[in-house]
Amino acid sequence: MSDDIFKKRGYGGDFRAVKKLEKAEELIDNYNFKSIRSYFGEMNFRDDLDMMDVVVTDIEPFSENVKRYRLEPQNYELPLFEAGQSLCVYMRINGGRFLKPLAVCSSPNHRYYSVIVFRDDFVSDRMLDDWVVGSEVTITRPRGNFTYHPLRDEKKVLGFVDGIGISHFISMAETIIEGEENFELFVVYVADYYKDIIFSSYLNWLEKNSNGKVKFCYLLGEESRVGCRHGNVTSSLIKSLLAPPYSVFASGSNELIDRLNLHLAKLGISDSDIHMRRPFVYATPEDLSGKPYAKLKPFTITVKSADITYPPIEIEKGDTLMVAMEKAGLNVPGKCMNGGCGVCRSRLLEGKVELMAGEDWKPVEEKYSVIHPCVCYPLTDVTIEIPIKRDEI
Ligand code: FES
Repeated sequence: MSDDIFKKRGYGGDFRAVKKLEKAEELIDNYNFKSIRSYFGEMNFRDDLDMMDVVVTDIEPFSENVKRYRLEPQNYELPLFEAGQSLCVYMRINGGRFLKPLAVCSSPNHRYYSVIVFRDDFVSDRMLDDWVVGSEVTITRPRGNFTYHPLRDEKKVLGFVDGIGISHFISMAETIIEGEENFELFVVYVADYYKDIIFSSYLNWLEKNSNGKVKFCYLLGEESRVGCRHGNVTSSLIKSLLAPPYSVFASGSNELIDRLNLHLAKLGISDSDIHMRRPFVYATPEDLSGKPYAKLKPFTITVKSADITYPPIEIEKGDTLMVAMEKAGLNVPGKCMNGGCGVCRSRLLEGKVELMAGEDWKPVEEKYSVIHPCVCYPLTDVTIEIPIKRDEI
């Protein structure tokens, strides 16, 4: 497939889709029509400014497999962001074009973004092995709603994390210490061994300098009697940690999030007080055992954009529709890779998909077959229309 086909990443939205919906206006009630319109209309505001070139100016290794990178602009100001948000790194690898989300782990008060890279897939391999001080990197502006809101959230936050998920909480802790946010943060870090706690000395420093507002506690597998570190996350443990009211923020593996969902429900904590984030990892065949979406047979995806239909692409086991298109080198619009930004919204023309764990299909999206390819796995061969106009490709 030609690299030129999708060479322009910015695009102006699929006005044809809106036109089609306008024709069907009499069939739709007014409220729904407005909702649908906003799905496509917001795409008009995208432009190339969302993609930024930055330079790696500092590298702090924790180990061969975990490093913190400082990313700075050359001669412009980086956009503001909120503690807890994530950016995407745009990587070109073997003809594919990949967007890897990483939580920003610095506070918004700096003129740079810091990110921690954890060796968890072939894209992070390239970052850890290839990036040196001076490397030029393309990123998107930070986005996402894994952020503290004083009007919505309680004054106390109970955080749960394993692995790379700690980045969000480092950013929140820095922001609390700098006086920009005003809440108490109590983070439970689940790991096999103390040596696996990423940047533990920095976490200790944050705690010491927070005037009692930030606390990290470690739930280690080496102390577990139940043989599984996540097995220690139970409703009675949660109950013993902090007196309510509090809001819960959790960022970690499916295992941690699923367990928390189970035990928070037992405690009757309301959904509006729970915020979850599952770090995005490109699947590898070894990861797939036991995953519901690891199909026996690889399916294909046929992509339409304006009046072009591209040759079918094979979807490797465990890949979302988005990742299959990325591997084929398509410059698919996207920003977050977790169903949150809406930029990849597409139309499912043929076939069936299932959503990633934790994702819901809104009734209005289901009615008009609107999907987010970044969180969809195929159940059959599929055909989708992606929102890129031909004259902008
Ligand atoms: S890339 Fe953000 S919703 Fe798909």
